[in-house]
Amino acid sequence: MNMWIVLVLAALAAGASAQTCSCDTMKWATCDGNPCGCYLMIGDNVKQPLNCSSLIPKCFLMKAEMYRAKKGLDTRTVGGKPVETAFVDNDGIYDPDCENDGKFRAKQCNNTDECWCVNSAGVRRTDKGDKTLTCDKLVETFWIRLQLTHKPVTGKVDASKLKVAIADAIHKRYSSFKKDMVDEVKYDSDARLIVVDVKKPKGDRKTDLTHMAYYMEKDVKVLPLFKDQKKFEPSVDGNKLEMENILVYYVDEEAPTFTMKNLSGGIIAVIVVVVLAVVAGLLVLFFAKRRESQRYNKAQQREMDAM
Ligand SMILES: *[C@@H]1O[C@H](CO)[C@@H](O)[C@H](O)[C@H]1NC(C)=O
Ligand SMILES: *[C@@H]1O[C@H](CO)[C@@H](O)[C@H](O)[C@H]1NC(C)=O
Repeated sequence: MNMWIVLVLAALAAGASAQTCSCDTMKWATCDGNPCGCYLMIGDNVKQPLNCSSLIPKCFLMKAEMYRAKKGLDTRTVGGKPVETAFVDNDGIYDPDCENDGKFRAKQCNNTDECWCVNSAGVRRTDKGDKTLTCDKLVETFWIRLQLTHKPVTGKVDASKLKVAIADAIHKRYSSFKKDMVDEVKYDSDARLIVVDVKKPKGDRKTDLTHMAYYMEKDVKVLPLFKDQKKFEPSVDGNKLEMENILVYYVDEEAPTFTMKNLSGGIIAVIVVVVLAVVAGLLVLFFAKRRESQRYNKAQQREMDAM
């Protein structure tokens, strides 16, 4: 009799542990065993073991996406919204070479004879060359600008509360990402534009900004990588801000070395790597211009009304 109870309990326990053996941070992961282990297919018969307690390195994710695309497997969310065509394609997807710990190799060739150097986000930062190209090290991205556009909301968004709201939402959704790395948040209510600067001290190798940015990019593009298919939705005064577009700028510890000529082509549509000083200048200019044109529009409106 006791034997049966033990067996039933054991079966229940096994069932319960099987249920919890899953990977919250990667919806394509396969998990099994006791203790529970999860892996991701990143090539033919190549299983990458995962640590599902943290965000999965972008290099592994890109490999998995390329593998799935090659196999004709779904890379989208089943039943999710199709991607709106208006989205800027800043994926720059290729089949990357990864280090064992998930970092990008400094030199990438996408299985071809054409190679280039990337930063820690896997984004190209040099001109393309042939196989003889050398990249002496992986240059770290220490500053990321997330340029988000939110969907229209009823009422006004309190800009002064935006920074805390964004930092909270990032912390909650992206594996307890450190709030104090959210350095600055600027808001343009007319354009529904939120500019979020995420920064770490130069030389810091403990925190990685690029994984969080990649997960957010996928969330906003309605293709979440998480097992749960929630959104990145900061809340200001109980008002949820749903995002509809994202553009990611990378600032590396060393300026990129590509020539402007090559920049004008396809890269514009992909991700732009901007030099530190230029970024600051452009933002100031952008907001100044916008304010100016608003003032101008209002003045014009008044003139029209007068007539
Ligand atoms: C998995 O990630 C967590 C959170 O970052 C970390 O504390 C833990 O040491 C990692 N486990 C392994 C096996 O690397
Ligand atoms: C990498 O190669 C694949 C085809 O194998 C191609 O679709 C993709 O555009 C390439 N990516 C880059 C950045 O060259």
